[in-house]
Amino acid sequence: MSTNHNFVQAPHKLLMIPGPIEVTDEVLYANAHPPMHLLSSDFASVFGECICMTRNILYSKDAQPFLMAGSGTLGWDQVSANLLEPDENALVLNCGYFGDGFADCLQTYGVKVDQLKAEVGGTVKQSDIEVALKSKKYKLITATHVDTSTAVLSDIKGVAEVVRKVSPDTLVVVDAVCSVASEEIQMDAWGIDAVLTASQKGLGTPPGLSIVVASQKAIKALENRSTPVRAYYASWKKWLPIMKAYEADTAAYFAAPPVNLIYAYHASLSHITQGPVSLEERFKAHKDASRRFKKAAEDLGFKGVPFSEEVSANGMTALYFPDGLVGSDIIPRLLEQGIVVAGGIHSSIKGQLRMTCSDFHLSELLTVNLAILIDKYFRIGHMGVSVVDPKRGDIDIVIKALAKTLKEAKAPKLLIETR
Ligand SMILES: Cc1ncc(COP(=O)(O)O)c(C=O)c1O
Repeated sequence: MSTNHNFVQAPHKLLMIPGPIEVTDEVLYANAHPPMHLLSSDFASVFGECICMTRNILYSKDAQPFLMAGSGTLGWDQVSANLLEPDENALVLNCGYFGDGFADCLQTYGVKVDQLKAEVGGTVKQSDIEVALKSKKYKLITATHVDTSTAVLSDIKGVAEVVRKVSPDTLVVVDAVCSVASEEIQMDAWGIDAVLTASQKGLGTPPGLSIVVASQKAIKALENRSTPVRAYYASWKKWLPIMKAYEADTAAYFAAPPVNLIYAYHASLSHITQGPVSLEERFKAHKDASRRFKKAAEDLGFKGVPFSEEVSANGMTALYFPDGLVGSDIIPRLLEQGIVVAGGIHSSIKGQLRMTCSDFHLSELLTVNLAILIDKYFRIGHMGVSVVDPKRGDIDIVIKALAKTLKEAKAPKLLIETR
């Protein structure tokens, strides 16, 4: 695999959404690898190294990674189909949109789901988890590490501790799509049984790879099922021998792996696990960038969606618009300055359709078609290369653009008010 290249990606708008994120030239170049036989020994060793490096990022010695073509959502299917049987009980700790999705997926597989729902901006209380676990036997509990709809960070170490104390047989599953490689996860030490994620966020690779890492306890639960796995493509019984073969530097076939994406993932993982910035320094860089960005946003008058710093993600920020401003005041202006951010998606604080005419001149009113989507908040991603490569200056670029945007957005409104 060649890393000696002069490839530079085309100029583009700065992608600062909470995934997909900016990727390095090395990763994009690796994605352009010439076509390879998926059973060749060259490809097998690259795939095998990806398996090992994935395990290392989660500080695990013996957990089993599953890498397959798909997105983060496929991780929900893998957990639902492989670790649960119809009519078994699962408890979902729900901090937003992605908790809703995981619960919905589990129910699709006939699992009986109970949910503990946090307030918007908060996490589920450990005392409530304890009560729920004492009231019923749950085969599995799920927690979203960072709910990307609210930028709320859950204390998964604490959740796993409560489970170990109250219901040690319950499998602890973490949706870490928006946290792997931007937040610390110590799978073995914390007692986590499955971590599901995807390539396009902290892992700094284009989208298209579903990554699930299962503890040996989870693999035992798979082996001890009394009913067959109710999935074909997502069945770990099919994939386990394939993953083992690739890790042994041989190859086996069940369904085509996303060959080029594996090369891209390998380039990114090599940088994350063996590059000049250690894993620990990477987590600190995310914390530092997050603090700096959130402080700058607060100074400008934005309020964060999470209730406190303790429950705030380090790889992204969710901000309410200041009073009197809406998404259409901010997001297009950032876009004009070459920065892409994301709107809100949490059902109770995302946009609703409202008719308004006080905020706009007539000409603007006509172009926005009279109906204006009133978002209450928006989301900014700050993960991966945008924070670990300070030479890029991505965080400062966004802070500066946000300040300019706010000034411009407030200006016409002041004009109307003073008329
Ligand atoms: C926490 C979380 N879970 C699951 C998903 C679904 O992942 P994907 O969009 O890759 O299917 C996302 C996507 O943003 C996410 O943030």
